[in-house]
Amino acid sequence: MARLGVNVDHVATLRQARGGKEPDAVAAAVLAELGGADGIVIHLREDRRHIQDRDLRLLREVVQTKLDLEMAATEEMVRIAMDTKPHLVTFVPERRQELTTEGGLDVAGNRERIKDLITLLHQCGIAVSLFIDPELEQIKAARRVEADCIELHTGRYANATGLKEQDSEFESLVQAARAAYKLELVVNAGHGLNYRNVRRLRTISEIVEYNIGHSIIAHAISVGLERAVREMKDLLR
Ligand code: PXP
Repeated sequence: MARLGVNVDHVATLRQARGGKEPDAVAAAVLAELGGADGIVIHLREDRRHIQDRDLRLLREVVQTKLDLEMAATEEMVRIAMDTKPHLVTFVPERRQELTTEGGLDVAGNRERIKDLITLLHQCGIAVSLFIDPELEQIKAARRVEADCIELHTGRYANATGLKEQDSEFESLVQAARAAYKLELVVNAGHGLNYRNVRRLRTISEIVEYNIGHSIIAHAISVGLERAVREMKDLLR
């Protein structure tokens, strides 16, 4: 059974819309764990548009499973990770104007810089994942910079219009997962996944963990967070 990391950024987005205290991302993380989440994922963006530094500090203490901190690959962000020591850091590309993370990290084009940052995190005992598009060049680069894991960007698969396009994006994910597995990288996947499109991915046995946020939080509005997480976990069996 694949693991499920629940991204609670969207809870913080709702809180920030009014600048108050609710809903609380920490309370959401506790409920997600009660529903069977294997990990909690947060993205501390440089513009702090949803998750705040305080959330990170509290979640580091409260999360019982595993805290995956997504962040831009910069020295400033790495310093924050070295102070708080999440279980895993996932480097993601960040553009200020984007609504959500668009496209994967260009590891191949930034090998030296990314490797230096990974070395710093490894020295603190923090494992590192790289959020990349399902492309062989990026997978090989992830191996060369000594990442522990990759997270395959499933956005193109999730946004595919029509079966032909979805088939082609699915095939890219299959090939990428196999290649990464052969290079002994732990393979995670995420972005844009929901209760429908995640089913097909379950046939890719190399993927060990899915990181899912928006669809779970959206479903939670109707059925509650614990149940929304449990329903997604059931699909990953
Ligand atoms: N994985 C990564 C690296 C992400 O940046 C995001 C979005 O924050 C997700 C997974 C979750 O995506 P979604 O909210 O579309 O499920």
